[in-house]
Amino acid sequence: KLEAKVDSVLSLMTLEEKIGQMVQYSASWDVTGPPTAGNENRLENLKRGLVGSMLNVTGVKATKEAQRLNMENSRLKIPLIFGYDVIHGYKTLFPIPLGESASWDLDIMERTARAAARESAAAGIGWTFAPMVDVSRDARWGRIMEGAGEDPFLVAKIGVARVKGFQTDDLTSPTAIAACAKHFAGYGFAEAGRDYNTVNLGMSELHNTILPPFKAAADAGVLTFMNSFNEIDGIPSTGNPYLQREILKEEWNYKGFIVSDWGSISEMIAHGVAENHKEAAYIALTAGSDMDMEGNAYETSIEDLIKEGRVSETLVDDAVKRILRVKFQLGLFDDPYKYCDAKAEKKELYSKENQQLSLEAGKKSIVLLKNENALLPIASKVKTIAVIGPLADDNDSPLGNWRGQGVSNSAVSVLEGIRRYAPKGTKVTYAKGADLSIGERSFLKHMTINETDTSGFGKAVETAKEADLVILVVGEDAFQTGEARSQTDIGFAGVQDELIKVVYKANSNVVMVLMNGRPMDISWSAANIPTILESWLLGSQHGNAVAEVLFGKYNPSGKLPVSFPRSVGQEPLYYNQKNTGRPGPIEDVTYSHYVDERRDALYPFGYGLSYTTFKYDNISLSASSFSEGEPLTVTVSVTNTGKLDGEEVVQLYLRDLVASTTRPIKELKGFEKVFIKAGETKKVIFTIDRELLSFYTRNKKWEAESGDFKVFVGGNSVDVLEASFKYKNE
Ligand code: IFM
Repeated sequence: KLEAKVDSVLSLMTLEEKIGQMVQYSASWDVTGPPTAGNENRLENLKRGLVGSMLNVTGVKATKEAQRLNMENSRLKIPLIFGYDVIHGYKTLFPIPLGESASWDLDIMERTARAAARESAAAGIGWTFAPMVDVSRDARWGRIMEGAGEDPFLVAKIGVARVKGFQTDDLTSPTAIAACAKHFAGYGFAEAGRDYNTVNLGMSELHNTILPPFKAAADAGVLTFMNSFNEIDGIPSTGNPYLQREILKEEWNYKGFIVSDWGSISEMIAHGVAENHKEAAYIALTAGSDMDMEGNAYETSIEDLIKEGRVSETLVDDAVKRILRVKFQLGLFDDPYKYCDAKAEKKELYSKENQQLSLEAGKKSIVLLKNENALLPIASKVKTIAVIGPLADDNDSPLGNWRGQGVSNSAVSVLEGIRRYAPKGTKVTYAKGADLSIGERSFLKHMTINETDTSGFGKAVETAKEADLVILVVGEDAFQTGEARSQTDIGFAGVQDELIKVVYKANSNVVMVLMNGRPMDISWSAANIPTILESWLLGSQHGNAVAEVLFGKYNPSGKLPVSFPRSVGQEPLYYNQKNTGRPGPIEDVTYSHYVDERRDALYPFGYGLSYTTFKYDNISLSASSFSEGEPLTVTVSVTNTGKLDGEEVVQLYLRDLVASTTRPIKELKGFEKVFIKAGETKKVIFTIDRELLSFYTRNKKWEAESGDFKVFVGGNSVDVLEASFKYKNE
């Protein structure tokens, strides 16, 4: 039925109208008023039905007007779809994706995506350019904040949860919006972590590391894909038929459409593979890119390419069918104004429920990295708390980059949260100590922090001396991570290093609260500061979430989705490395190592503490070998050995000992977040099946190979119990 509808609309379309569907404009003028100079032609095209989608048009008033211009003037009245970067919320901001991934809580991530979809849908948006499912392993890369970290299994699970949250089971619902798996593919593997840089990947890395989260999103029904700015091995992704046609559309039988990244079709000119827009359009179209986001290539060239006989109209038809299909699936043909409900816009945006959800997601995302001397949770004997640091009373940084319609300075700061949650009678003092951000803070402005002013140190030291406990809030400004925010230095910017040292000298009872969008080099602090809490950038309710953890109202349960390095020189750093031919031992100079630094992480993937402790025992397997059809179960006992109830993320890793290609020394293949009461023991059971053992083998196939495997279970990727089994591929 759906296909018949798509075909019938297609059969009515002229070539010009078909190409129009493949064009996406950004809001280069306020569509509720007359076009600004240079946009007259765009308005004309909108009215003639020669635009398929717009991005960055937000709010009911504007989207309704743009839709009206299209619906009331165009010949065929094909609805527009409005896209927007709803990355971690629309107006209510949830934790940045990397931070929220630290919750390892798929349910909360689905629910925040749902809430973000409700808010965006109420504001006219039918399509988010999220989730980003790029595996990212280089802390220098600013966009690491937008993903779910370094591990393909975790990224895939989180990507699917987010897709479900955005799209729901009923696409025609007025609160369901299309999701977009991006950036297809390899964008997170930019050389040296420099955004948009060249990517060189072998087939094994592509298939085993990069593609699985995309495949999972496709299987979960994600309606769209976005391709990526980067090249892989000489071919820009936007013009890569192997990725887009062979793998995605043929092998995976994907029926949705692929939008280019912003101008990425015309950027193939700068890449040096296309001479001009026409050649770029030729390469992109033949490679399977369906919609041109602000590239000015498709609208200017496809008609000529067809007239010249260089491309067949069937390629255009295929792209247009994909776009129409999504519009039908969302119910836009039935009601082009389905997202234009001014009442819903008033009700949904920044609702109380969403603030509550933001708080819940925030506290679950916090990772306790160190807690010596039991400084946390804050004891009742603490009567004076000094809150110090450039980010301590920052209402803006918690919103992070890619903040949708988040209102500047609208987040709860850590200081505000502490004041709200501190028990009666506790004195809370404050000193900023130093400034962090300078210059204009915006997505489009380049930002460097070269602050050298230390004049606030005196007050910070005095404030620290007079307190029983210091909460030192340091890290990164909101705009230090995000697109085009790569850094060579992932330590503390400005004078924060010095501030940390003088404050610690004045009072060693320091709890460091980190706010950041990437793994940072915090080696000195890790060696000296007794307690460290990773709070990322948690969105609207940041300060309240942090305060709930500081005062023990919530027992931290987050685990790192990325490795924290000892030094930037280790980047890219990830736990699921290969063994190499020279894996150790440490005293042997010919092993794969650095002479000036250990090779392992400071805080490894999967790591995070709680106010209680967990003990792992009795790993057992249902059999010592298995073959297809009779999966293996792994059981482990986890005991809460502390005095407080708590949640633990129990993690399962596998290692394929001998295979047709080299395999990682450990790979996450399962996890479960369990609540365990103080003193209680819970059994956690994982099932291992053929699919979990499968990988892209030397045969260039996704398959499991017979052989010996190790299985590891633990609370992080390093401290694990292990057992062995054999698998027989019959
Ligand atoms: O969705 C984004 C993409 O991730 C980066 N370039 C711009 C797009 C649209 O804003």
